[in-house]
Amino acid sequence: MVSDSGPAAAGKGTILSGMRPTGRLHLGNYLGALENWVNLQQDYRCIYSIVDIHALTTIENPTDVADIQPNVHEMALDWLAAGIDPEQAIVFIQSQVPEVMSLHTLLSMVTPLGWLMRVPTFKEKVRQMEETEESVNYGLVGYPVLQTADIIIYKADTVPVGQDQLPHLELAREIVRRFNHRFGDTFPEPQAKLTEAPLILGLEGQQKMSKSLDNHIDLAATPEETAQRVLTAFTDPQRQRRSDPGRPEVCNVYSLHQLFSPAAEVSQVYAECTGAQRGCVDCKRHLATSINAFLEPMRERRRELEERPDFVKEVLAEGGKRARVIARQTIEEVYEKMGLAQPSG
Ligand code: TRP
Ligand code: SF4
Repeated sequence: MVSDSGPAAAGKGTILSGMRPTGRLHLGNYLGALENWVNLQQDYRCIYSIVDIHALTTIENPTDVADIQPNVHEMALDWLAAGIDPEQAIVFIQSQVPEVMSLHTLLSMVTPLGWLMRVPTFKEKVRQMEETEESVNYGLVGYPVLQTADIIIYKADTVPVGQDQLPHLELAREIVRRFNHRFGDTFPEPQAKLTEAPLILGLEGQQKMSKSLDNHIDLAATPEETAQRVLTAFTDPQRQRRSDPGRPEVCNVYSLHQLFSPAAEVSQVYAECTGAQRGCVDCKRHLATSINAFLEPMRERRRELEERPDFVKEVLAEGGKRARVIARQTIEEVYEKMGLAQPSG
């Protein structure tokens, strides 16, 4: 294992990011986040967290709870298969570093309720869950405080996230400013690092690729499943017959070709589509071939990892230990600054 002063210390700083354990990841998750996480490992000290406590904020029944650990494992498999390298990055499960919950409580002392109630993701979640701001769990209100604790307990300065997380990062900076102002300079203000990926639309070509809309392709899907799913993709709605010229610019199959097919094939698709020389079914078959070629190396690594479940558990346990060393130091500093007696043990 590389020491915690590894690639990082010499490099650009400390990165922290997290994902809620929702199980298998899809192409949209890869291009929108994971690929970037993999590339960042060279230049930063990277800490990647499977945020299982955050998963509890929206859980409503015991069956959901039973899914958490299998989902954690599936997601860890996808991360490692995609190239997250536990020799370079710290990969761990949020709840295995319980100090983050202590910091959450302490940060709640410098976080006005009004800030939390204004967060757009909070309002949206309340609506989605068909709750009111009065009936919703306290834990959900505190979601961004826990997220702030995730980041700053490792004194991370850079947080790769999507656009939707910007309000959370803004709040994290506000909490940090208040804390530093009241208790002395302790935490860096974390900056969001937006992923420069294009928006990946789902197979119906209308909305963002997502598991809940079932318009996705899992990284771990078999080649056959992938081909079947691609065949359900919507194309240019005005194109009825092969003899009608198509409009690749409004067709998501074409957008996906641009992401996964070699440049020469992309130009060929464009020419043949606009020239009414290519059928959509054929076009989708070719797309499936490109996506399968893209995913094959990941699937291969995943198969190897699936045969070594203990290795994956070990990676997460080891990551948890390394994360905890850093978290403990921060907690000691925070206790000191907030006038608390040092934690025992
Ligand atoms: N809220 C993030 C999401 O839903 C997940 C998350 C939790 C996170 N803690 C984090 C992301 C810390 C970045 C940093 O995607
Ligand atoms: Fe889309 Fe391909 Fe059909 Fe053209 S030929 S409309 S790019 S699926």
